[in-house]
Amino acid sequence: MDIIILKDAREASKEAAKLVAKLVVEKPHAVLGLATGGTPLALYEELVRMHKEEGLSFSKIRSFNLDEYVGLSPDDPASYRHFMDENFFDKIDIDKRNTLVPDGLAKDMPAFCEEYERRIKAAGGIDLQILGIGSDGHIGFNEPASSFNSRTRVKTLAKSTILDNARFFGNDVNKVPLHAISMGIGTILDSRKIILLAFGKAKAEAVASMAEGSVSSSCPATILQFHKSVSIFIDEEAASLLKNRDFYDWVNKHKFC
Ligand code: GLP
Repeated sequence: MDIIILKDAREASKEAAKLVAKLVVEKPHAVLGLATGGTPLALYEELVRMHKEEGLSFSKIRSFNLDEYVGLSPDDPASYRHFMDENFFDKIDIDKRNTLVPDGLAKDMPAFCEEYERRIKAAGGIDLQILGIGSDGHIGFNEPASSFNSRTRVKTLAKSTILDNARFFGNDVNKVPLHAISMGIGTILDSRKIILLAFGKAKAEAVASMAEGSVSSSCPATILQFHKSVSIFIDEEAASLLKNRDFYDWVNKHKFC
């Protein structure tokens, strides 16, 4: 794991955006795995800026989103499809037909989830997966006790996740769906490269467990310790409970390449 600690979310997101842009330039047909939530907003903003000011083109990029709430239609303002259109896809030159977000209204969920996995495979697999992290250590909507081998399926959200995400539903916990379709942990681990972003004090405990704790499905993000190419971009607050902080700074200062 590369643990990169920067002053704030903006700086960290700019660094992460450079990695995304590098891939997009080197491999114009790359397959991106994308995340929603408050965390990746500054990353998307920076990529939009690069598109507008530096000509970074996403025209041949394909993308798969991590998750979607069950029961929300694509035009529901709280849906992840709406989030992606509003904050990223509508602001760049990506072909929207190449942007896949799980269908929260799918009639046959198991069949839909299998098909989603098939489509990821058919696209050649995910080159770069963007992740945030839940305060309980979830990635995607893979809540504690999710199998490390899991594939795309419907998950029941933890109470803490419902509370955390109520801010996207007018602070009404009763409006937050109880279920979501989520790529599995196995699906995420198949990505060739992973970038995880985490900002703020509320993520400090989850970040410390992920990077320095024992691997356990009680904190799903700990499995990222087994992935061969993970870059973790965090701000000072999210880094505040890391024991080996000095070492991570040392490594970044003396990077081999
Ligand atoms: C949500 C999403 C995750 C996201 C996480 C953190 O529930 N399913 O993909 O990483 O929780 O969200 P935020 O970035 O808003 O803190």
